[in-house]
Amino acid sequence: MSALDLAQALALTRVIAVANDKGGVGKTTITANLGATLAREGYKICLVDLNRQANLADDLGYRDTEIDDQGAALLMSIMTGRTLQAVPVPGRDGLFVVPGGLDLTDLTGVMVGRVQQHGRDAMLTLAKALAPATAPYDLILIDTPPENTLLIDLALGAARWLLMPTKTDGGGLVGMRLLAQRYAIAREINPQLALLGVVLFGTSRAATAIHRDVRTKVEQAFGIGASPVLTALVGHSEKVARDARELGLTAHELAAAAAAQPTWWETRRAGNSSEPRISATASQVAADFDKLGLEILQLLAAAESGAQA
Ligand SMILES: Nc1ncnc2c1ncn2[C@@H]1O[C@H](COP(=O)(O)OP(=O)(O)OP(=O)(O)O)[C@@H](O)[C@H]1O
Ligand SMILES: [Mg+2]
Repeated sequence: MSALDLAQALALTRVIAVANDKGGVGKTTITANLGATLAREGYKICLVDLNRQANLADDLGYRDTEIDDQGAALLMSIMTGRTLQAVPVPGRDGLFVVPGGLDLTDLTGVMVGRVQQHGRDAMLTLAKALAPATAPYDLILIDTPPENTLLIDLALGAARWLLMPTKTDGGGLVGMRLLAQRYAIAREINPQLALLGVVLFGTSRAATAIHRDVRTKVEQAFGIGASPVLTALVGHSEKVARDARELGLTAHELAAAAAAQPTWWETRRAGNSSEPRISATASQVAADFDKLGLEILQLLAAAESGAQA
């Protein structure tokens, strides 16, 4: 297996791996909502799900629908080198996905064999299957599993950018240090990989002292001067999180549903006060994703204009 050629590298310039070695830090929530938010704004977005649990299918409401192939097509592409093919996410214009799922249970074993055969170049397996597929899309986001070095390496081998969500607690930061090690190794194989930024997830908007502390730790782990922690963050809301995953709706869609529901007083007068209500906080979380989308587009535009200068 050879290094990427120039055409392949260029084809991957809008690929973002969303990764942290730690679980539960918002990788999937961010992939789903960032993708859907940008698609709403008219961008054409492709999501690639490397997770066997495939929470992305829950967050976007396509689990067990006809597009949900449990990761079969993705596994086949990795095994045969066939170009990846994304399918449209029902009900969401401009949003496409290469689904993950239980078939990806075999992917780690496949990659162990690849590494034995090709060494570190095996990291480029996904890059090669993805490069011929990227042309129609403005952005490709890869959702990665936690605690799976081989699959994280696959994503880092295929990406131009790393976006790392973290919670502000110790666990997310340990995961970050492990990821920083994989990042350094991936850059030897995929030199165009760079850190786009770190997103604070599920945090209180007011915790500025904690945010400053995280900023310092991120800089230490990745060893870069400029602070990679993005200004945009995803505020904490358990209710929005639960509704989103249960109903398969994005924060924007939940906010619209919350605005359309009868007022609490109307429900009470009609005698339906025990009916579950969608939290109006969804609009705050939706606004967080708008800001995140905008900041990411600005960072990409700045990087691309810098590269041309
Ligand atoms: N705004 C929010 N505030 C608090 N918790 C949230 C928020 N949005 C989502 N969550 C919850 O946080 C948990 C972790 O989110 P998510 O599944 O996106 O993380 P992950 O990094 O993809 O996890 P894994 O490593 O297991 O794939 C989920 O239970 C999710 O419902
Ligand atoms: Mg996930």
